[in-house]
Amino acid sequence: MIPHVIDTDVLVVGAGGAGCRAAIEASEHNVQVTLITKDLLGKAHTSMAEGGINAALGNVDSQDNWEIHGKDTCSGGAYLNNQELVEILVTQAPERVMDLENYGAVFSRTPEGLIAQRPFGHQTYRRTCYVGDRTGSEILSTLVEEIRRRDIDVHDEIFATSLLVTHRRAAGITGINVRTGETMVYRAKATIIASGGAGRVYEVTTNAAADVGSGYAMAYKAGVELVDMEQFQFHPTSVAFPEAARGQLVTEGVRGEGGILLNKHGERFMKKYNPKLTDLAGRDEVARCIATEIREGRGNEHDAVYLDVSYIPARIIETRLPTMLKDFLDLGVDIREEPMEVSPSAHHAMGGIKIDRNGGTNVQGLYAAGEAAGGVHGGNRLGGNALADINVFGAIAGESAAAFAETREMPRLPKNQIAKENRRIREPLKRESGVTHFAAVKELRKLMWDKVGIYRNRESLTEALTRIEEMQKKVWPTITVENKSTRYNNEWINTLELSDMLLVAEMIARPALLREESRGAHFRTDFPKTNNDAWFKNIILVQRNGAMQLRPAPVVVTKWPPPWISSSAS
Ligand code: FUM
Repeated sequence: MIPHVIDTDVLVVGAGGAGCRAAIEASEHNVQVTLITKDLLGKAHTSMAEGGINAALGNVDSQDNWEIHGKDTCSGGAYLNNQELVEILVTQAPERVMDLENYGAVFSRTPEGLIAQRPFGHQTYRRTCYVGDRTGSEILSTLVEEIRRRDIDVHDEIFATSLLVTHRRAAGITGINVRTGETMVYRAKATIIASGGAGRVYEVTTNAAADVGSGYAMAYKAGVELVDMEQFQFHPTSVAFPEAARGQLVTEGVRGEGGILLNKHGERFMKKYNPKLTDLAGRDEVARCIATEIREGRGNEHDAVYLDVSYIPARIIETRLPTMLKDFLDLGVDIREEPMEVSPSAHHAMGGIKIDRNGGTNVQGLYAAGEAAGGVHGGNRLGGNALADINVFGAIAGESAAAFAETREMPRLPKNQIAKENRRIREPLKRESGVTHFAAVKELRKLMWDKVGIYRNRESLTEALTRIEEMQKKVWPTITVENKSTRYNNEWINTLELSDMLLVAEMIARPALLREESRGAHFRTDFPKTNNDAWFKNIILVQRNGAMQLRPAPVVVTKWPPPWISSSAS
């Protein structure tokens, strides 16, 4: 089949918040912008971010400012953060929130009519701007409306399968038109990967079905550097029961509005672990404490703890947590009267494609933004910083990519690479016998949850890596797609996604094995302490000669020195 080639100046891969914001910014330039998405425009994981977006507006706590926001972000991130990126995040977040207002987003207000701000975990002040508990949904729909007002080509139901690179320069992507099954080539002067995260590699996740990590896999295969892939956030609270909704996000906004965590004995256990911050300690810590309560037998019969808001006036729940109220009513639980049953769920990849201050990567003409990019959040992301990140770094990537495209010629197409990729993506359709992908996907997700989850150690990680390699070498080549039609063939797309998931699983587990300490979301039961002498380092991951190479590099401290380094040293 001859691929269908579409040329554009700036190609944005992914239409969540980061991709939409990048496309909007790029469209300010005199360039043609094309946005592709695996789903339909408007359907993206961003809409599931409920609790809010951080910006030091000081509307509620006037003492707040960007420097304190930066300090909270770095201390919350176990100081693994790229501080240059943090400074950009915290200084630009207020303007990006104002952009959203200008595009039409309607934020909840204070009695004085300012944008309301609520407390979120590990933050000194009330800084998280919100729209009830549907902030992500409001932001995404606002950005989508703005896209529609602009001259941006949107191609939905395009599954990007590989990144094209010629002479160390990005040349666009190959993909599959999910509607027709055609192989597509999008050739572009500049390409932005904004394809979101990889929560779906875990059995229990808050993430949308699309979040299988294809952006990381594409980048890795094209020689792009990634950073700190072992740092995967487990959100402390997701639905644990009823089983049908297991993993679904229970927003941190619930605890921000005063919700408390209780074990099966009715004990407010966070007071024991962190008497100062209690239920609003950092996510990494709260998730581990909940997991410990459950492991040590203080969880209930559904391996859950309780999250209780029943003592809060019903009016507050109805106005500030309406989505939670409705979601749980649908599950037969009235949170105004009874507690929620919650447990942790894989939520956010702090690691990702390594970017510089312009959103650029080590491949010319390639940019990344949002959860696809790594480094901003270090070892643990603060709740509310993801929606800030996608707006700030989405805009930066869009601006940089457009400026690059304005001054460059269209790259030559790497024909051999396209032909090879075309063969790879069609191969599972040609196999006549073998197993389908379902069992392998299930097995991988359970393996990651059990062995590369909140708690890991050398034994569990080695076991996981051995099996992942076996699955890559022995299971994947035998997987067949029984439905041979190429139109809307989910079985085919999911089979190809499995190959990305296996690679991403390896990208998480290898640096997790290398980092022999505990820091941020990465907790090694065999190395439970943080080792600043040996491991105050980021781990850069890149493909070299077909092998996964890991390179620890000292963290650069620019503005917010960690407590073990005196400020005069920075
Ligand atoms: O808990 C939440 O509402 C999630 C927000 C976030 O991850 O930033």
